Amino acid sequence: MMDSSTVASRKTWRRLQGYARPYRGLLLAAAAAMLLEALVSAAVVKLQQPIIDDLLVAQTFKWWLPVAMVLLLLARGLFGLAGDYTIARSGRNVARDLRLQLMDKYLRIPGQHFDSEPVPSMLTRLGSDADQVARAAVDALKVMIGNALQVAALLAVMIWTSWRVSLVLLILAPIMAWTMGRIGKRYRRLNHAIQEASAAALQSADQALHAQQEVKTYGGHALEMQRYGGQTLRNVRLEMKVEVTRGMLSLFVQFLGAVTLASMLVVAGFEASAGRLSAGDFSVLLTSMVALVPALRQLTNVQNMLNRGITSAERVFAILDQADEADDGGHALPRAKGLIEFRHVSARYEGQETPAIRDLSFVARPGTVTAIVGRSGSGKSTLVKLLPRFYEPESGQILLDGRPLHDYRLADLRSQIAMVSQQVMLFDGSIAENVAYGELHAASREAIETAIRGANAMEFVERLPQGIDSPVGERGGKLSGGQRQRLAIARALLKDAPILILDEATAALDNESERLVQAALAQLMPDRTTLVIAHRLSTIEHADQVLVLDEGRLVEQGSHAELIARDGLYAHLHRLQFRESA
Ligand SMILES: Nc1ncnc2c1ncn2[C@@H]1O[C@H](COP(=O)(O)OP(=O)(O)OP(=O)(O)O)[C@@H](O)[C@H]1O
Ligand SMILES: [Mg+2]
Repeated sequence: MMDSSTVASRKTWRRLQGYARPYRGLLLAAAAAMLLEALVSAAVVKLQQPIIDDLLVAQTFKWWLPVAMVLLLLARGLFGLAGDYTIARSGRNVARDLRLQLMDKYLRIPGQHFDSEPVPSMLTRLGSDADQVARAAVDALKVMIGNALQVAALLAVMIWTSWRVSLVLLILAPIMAWTMGRIGKRYRRLNHAIQEASAAALQSADQALHAQQEVKTYGGHALEMQRYGGQTLRNVRLEMKVEVTRGMLSLFVQFLGAVTLASMLVVAGFEASAGRLSAGDFSVLLTSMVALVPALRQLTNVQNMLNRGITSAERVFAILDQADEADDGGHALPRAKGLIEFRHVSARYEGQETPAIRDLSFVARPGTVTAIVGRSGSGKSTLVKLLPRFYEPESGQILLDGRPLHDYRLADLRSQIAMVSQQVMLFDGSIAENVAYGELHAASREAIETAIRGANAMEFVERLPQGIDSPVGERGGKLSGGQRQRLAIARALLKDAPILILDEATAALDNESERLVQAALAQLMPDRTTLVIAHRLSTIEHADQVLVLDEGRLVEQGSHAELIARDGLYAHLHRLQFRESA
């Protein structure tokens, strides 16, 4: 019987094996090492018979026995080491291959995905999921092949020594395995529940610690402790259940082991009195049996390892199978003129009822400044995110230099745009590395310094101990909000692209710095198309046209003076919002 889920997991399994294929050579070497290790282990066990019968019982010293023992143990260690090394090497590389593929994919899939999958979940896929997959694809082979070989070798030794006594074990072992399997299932279920409970506790601790300032100012201490206390208590209870199950398991194993041993003793007694079993033979049988138990237990655990690997692989493949951002326009675009046209554009975020942009049409010409204003949530940021194609419109068309955006190669389109977004993102690195980021990395130091000066950032950069080589900290954490914003502006200045988009780019600056930054931006504006989202009158007044958005609709359009004269929404917003700098 094969239902659809086993078919699916077979497929996943086959695909998973594909990841091990590049390491075939290493894996073959590993199998050879494991075979040798199993043979040597069996020989070590078998050596007990002459040691006991000759050295102890007959008391005839044979010098080769201790020498053989040392050599065999040394060989076993070396083969074991070789097996572990080759397996670890291929396993860790498979995990890395998966991580690289995933990371590459994450940077290629449409930005919309980032609205639905939180970054911590992406980190789990890159971290433990990739490891579990490698474990299933490679490490499981080690257990399967290595332990199967060991079990086979030990059984061969036992049968060779006395098939009658071995028969007892062969009859009783399946009963033992079945019982252990039953208890093992409960054990795994509990462990799974523990993992989930720990994850929940971790998440609530993470949240409380990250928001420690909010917890303190809003008196959330008791609430957070209660939440965390409840989750950790659940964890303790589950762990106690696991402990009891573990105890039960070992009780059963000991009991059944004792029964098996007793039965073997009875048969061994008969065999010895019939002259077919020496003391050494008996010792070989006992040692083999003791060595068989852990090897068999690991073999029964392999299914578990594979299942976990397959679950993780499904999570990883779900991402790898997503389509990349659509990039099928073949038109190369060295440098655009910067004529932007929106024709009846509507856009909706996935899962939202109402569109964020509705039937929006306007033209922005090269060398002009278009200001976009409107209440919070009216769709201003959404409008500008459509230009680099971070999101795709639901209907309508956006054109650049008279051609739909889709006609251009995506990388070419994006290289036409310098954007300072509402949330400034800096990378762990120096100020210079952040300004000359990505394609700009080859910029000269003079160019970088000019850009920093233009963004009015030199004033604080100079005061830092290492100047433009000072580290900004993780996500720019060592800088203030306004300082980060000025570096983002410097980055945009350095890019010198035909389209400049500023989304509240100067919102965190004081009036004086803003005036200086505006002056630097104004110098750039004449030979490019600028879209600027701002609340300050000084910026909007000088714009060539103002677009007034309301609930995603373009409700008014014109120059500042025209719109004031019209006495509509703009005039209203102007009276309420833009006054502070008037
Ligand atoms: N990633 C997203 N997923 C779903 N809905 C979104 C997303 N981003 C924005 N929205 C919604 O789209 C609408 C427009 O948002 P947008 O960010 O464009 O507003 P805005 O005019 O820039 O506002 P603000 O002045 O506050 O920055 C809002 O209703 C918002 O809730
Ligand atoms: Mg916005």
